[in-house]
Amino acid sequence: MEIKARIGSIKRVRADAIIMCVYENTKRPRGDLSTINKALNGAISDLIHNGEIKGKLGEVTIIHSLGKITADRVVTIGLGKRTELTLDKIRSATSDVCRALKSKGVKRAAIVALGTCTGVLAPKESGQAIAEGAILGSYAFRRHMTAKDDSGILESLTVIDRSRTVVAAAQQGINEGIVLAEAANLARDLVNEPANFMTPTHLAAEATRIAEKYKLEVEVFEREEIKKMGMGAFLGVAQGSHQPPKFIVMKYKGTESKDFDIALIGKGLTFDSGGISLKPAEKMGDMKGDMAGGASVIGAMGAIGQLKPKVNVMAIIAATENMPGGSALKPADVLTAMNGKTIEVDNTDAEGRLTLADALSYANKQGVKRIVDIATLTGGCVVALGDVTTGAFTNNQELLGAVIKAGEAVGDKIWQLPLFEEYKEQNKSTIADIKNSGGRPASPITAALFVGEFAGETPWVHLDIAGTSDIDKNRGYYTKGATGVPARTLIKLVLSLSK
Ligand code: BES
Ligand code: MN
Ligand code: ZN
Repeated sequence: MEIKARIGSIKRVRADAIIMCVYENTKRPRGDLSTINKALNGAISDLIHNGEIKGKLGEVTIIHSLGKITADRVVTIGLGKRTELTLDKIRSATSDVCRALKSKGVKRAAIVALGTCTGVLAPKESGQAIAEGAILGSYAFRRHMTAKDDSGILESLTVIDRSRTVVAAAQQGINEGIVLAEAANLARDLVNEPANFMTPTHLAAEATRIAEKYKLEVEVFEREEIKKMGMGAFLGVAQGSHQPPKFIVMKYKGTESKDFDIALIGKGLTFDSGGISLKPAEKMGDMKGDMAGGASVIGAMGAIGQLKPKVNVMAIIAATENMPGGSALKPADVLTAMNGKTIEVDNTDAEGRLTLADALSYANKQGVKRIVDIATLTGGCVVALGDVTTGAFTNNQELLGAVIKAGEAVGDKIWQLPLFEEYKEQNKSTIADIKNSGGRPASPITAALFVGEFAGETPWVHLDIAGTSDIDKNRGYYTKGATGVPARTLIKLVLSLSK
């Protein structure tokens, strides 16, 4: 989809549809809407009067203009109460309206800079949210469908305004919005891809492709090198699979310094069967998405390469499958992680934290200043927070504050859970330094505590996206299937660290 801002008049724009906003409790059209209402002989005020247009968030009304203005249709989109307008509502409403127009076969749409007339939102923010909403909301994964998509495609969306300064600012916002949304859509593509295609080898190839496209450094370590580095925990998980593991490292350098300001570490299980502690059949297929953390990191790195912040970023993904088999890891096995800690394998299905143990050890060995890890880590997090909120854990409130703020800027909801010392009891082993499962009670917390052992003193945030990486039905700009969460948050976070 082509999205741009252009100077023009809504009465004279040539398009299949012109999109305008209405607020809840609007008695009669004002401003631009009033202009269009008059041109349509009062059609909009009639619809408001008879209650068909209420202005509720996401309400789409399509009115055919029958030649009275140059656009074929006037489409109103509800934004809720004027005083309660947020960027996120614009993002959400734009995706709703884009999906509605797409299904009607609309190809070229124009849109006013939503929300700017109220003065609540600056045109740049509005442009960004419109671009994000349009691109995220129009996402569909059709790679394995041989039939052509008959629901049509919205080819272009043009933000129209009379003012040159509004258009220039909106265009700036659009540019950033496009990069953010495409990063999330890339992550979605990687997550939605079935595991017979999305192997560790393929994930590494995708990371390499993105690195080459945006001039990042990339290194992919093979099993022999992984062994040499002493990553016994990661290799333990990988040993049951016929697919070779890949340890993927991407680097973006935005400053002269040799030091890395932050490491983004994504869980990279391209399929998690549970291993010998095999998962039940129901919904096992969802575990093709157990590399969503890694996917969000790859998406974010591509965007960072384009936006070029002044900060050095390392991305790390320990990619493997978790499979049962003759050579698979067994319950009660003991593994040694790269940092020398020994781990009792209580449950082979608690594999994510084993791979993260070595990824975090590696990051620390590189001397990174901060670590954010992103993982579809626990079923317990889905129980606690559902598919709405990402669970967050930290040893450093300041860093988590920055992560949450970045999430708020893009609409990704993140909520902190505690890491009280008492919970550590559950991870105690009688044979090794620690065991990989603390049982069912507070499982997101004991999992996070396990990972935290490998963060050491480095400021660290752990994001459990088991619930939020994937959803069952469309919700605003989060489309059914992979959500791409938290790729946009990670980008905003890195931008906020830029010097
Ligand atoms: N990948 C799963 C967690 C998961 C569950 C992600 C549901 C998305 C949806 C993880 O590897 C896992 O199996 N966790 C177990 C750990 C347990 C065996 C200690 C869990 O949380 O049940
Ligand atoms: Mn598992
Ligand atoms: Zn897993």
